[in-house]
Amino acid sequence: MKTLVTGGTGFVGRRLLSKLPNPAVVTRNAARTRASLGDLVSDVLEVDLAARPVELDEQHGYGAIVNLMGESIAEGRWTDEKKKRIRDSRILGTRNLVDSLIRSGQLPEVFVSASAVGFYGDPGNEVVNEDDKAGEGFLPEVCQEWENEALRIADHGVRVVLVRIGIVLGKEGGALEKMLPLFRWGLGGKLGDGQQWMPWIHVEDLVDMIVWAMNTNDVSGPLNGVAPDPVRNVDFTRGLAEAVARPAFLPAPKFGLRLALGEFAESLFFSQRVVPDKALTRGFEFQFPDLDSALEEIVSD
Ligand SMILES: NC(=O)c1ccc[n+]([C@@H]2O[C@H](COP(=O)([O-])OP(=O)(O)OC[C@H]3O[C@@H](n4cnc5c(N)ncnc54)[C@H](OP(=O)(O)O)[C@@H]3O)[C@@H](O)[C@H]2O)c1
Repeated sequence: MKTLVTGGTGFVGRRLLSKLPNPAVVTRNAARTRASLGDLVSDVLEVDLAARPVELDEQHGYGAIVNLMGESIAEGRWTDEKKKRIRDSRILGTRNLVDSLIRSGQLPEVFVSASAVGFYGDPGNEVVNEDDKAGEGFLPEVCQEWENEALRIADHGVRVVLVRIGIVLGKEGGALEKMLPLFRWGLGGKLGDGQQWMPWIHVEDLVDMIVWAMNTNDVSGPLNGVAPDPVRNVDFTRGLAEAVARPAFLPAPKFGLRLALGEFAESLFFSQRVVPDKALTRGFEFQFPDLDSALEEIVSD
C-alpha cells in the first residue's frame, strides 16, 4: 500500500519510514528532508500544512496516510507563541491535510493520526482505556480538536485510527535523549514525590502498532499507543538508574521544574495510568511489554 507520512522527519516518523515500502513524506523543508532521509523515501512534498493545504492530483493516490506532524511540546518554554504553534501544527495542519485529500478526490483507505495520552488529562490512579473521556486544560483540548479534525475524513468512508501516544522511549530522540545523560552522570531523580503514573512505549512497538493499525481492517477510532505496563515515576526513575548502573537520588521539586520549564512542567506531574486495551484485545503483540526489557535494549550500544 502506498503511504504518505507527515512528520516523517521526526523521532517516530523516521523509524516508521524504514518499515514502509516506498513511502512519501510531507515536510516543510524538502531539501533538508531529501538530504537526511535519502533512500528511505520515494517522494517528498514540500508544504507547511499548518499554513496551507497540499496540492494532490491523480499521481498522488495513497492507500494510507500516517499523520505525525506537530511542534514539539517538550522543547522550549510555553510562551503564547509556542502554544499557538503547538495547536496550529496539529489542528490546522490536520485540517489542511484532510481538506487536501477530500478536494483531490484521492481518498485513502485508512488515515492513522497521532494523538497523545495528554487527551486524558490527569486522571490520577484510575486505570484509563480508550473508552474514558477527555480531561481538562490545554493539552486535553488540543488533543480533542486534533482528533476531531482527523475524524472529518471518516465521513467520507475512510477508516480513521487515532493513536493516543504515551512517552516514546528509544535511542537517539524522544524523552530519553534528555534524560539519559543526566542519569549516566548520576544526576537523575524522581519528579516531585514520583507517585504519578507514566504511560510509556518503546518506539519500535509504536511504529509496529501504527503499521498493524494500517493493516488491520477492524481497528478504528482511539487506540492507546502505550505499553501494557504503565509505571509510577519513582519506579521509572529506579528502572532507568539501574539500567545505567548509577544512583538516582536527586529529586526534582515541582516548583523548580515550573521555574525552569514553565507551564510544560505541569504535564510532567499528570498521573496517567493508561493501558492499551484495544491493541491487546485485537491481538497486537508487544516486543517490549515491560519497562526493564525496553530500557535494557535502549541503553545497550
Ligand atoms: N515522542 C513522544 O514521546 C510523543 C508522545 C505523545 C505524542 N507524540 C506525537 O507523535 C507525533 C510524532 O512525535 P515525534 O516525537 O516523532 O515528533 P518530532 O520528532 O518532534 O517530529 C515531528 C515532526 O513534525 C513536523 N513539525 C514540527 N513542528 C512543526 C510545526 N510547527 N508545523 C508543522 N510541522 C511541524 C516536523 O517535520 P518537518 O520539519 O519535516 O516539517 C517534525 O519532524 C507528534 O504529533 C507528537 O505530538 C509524541
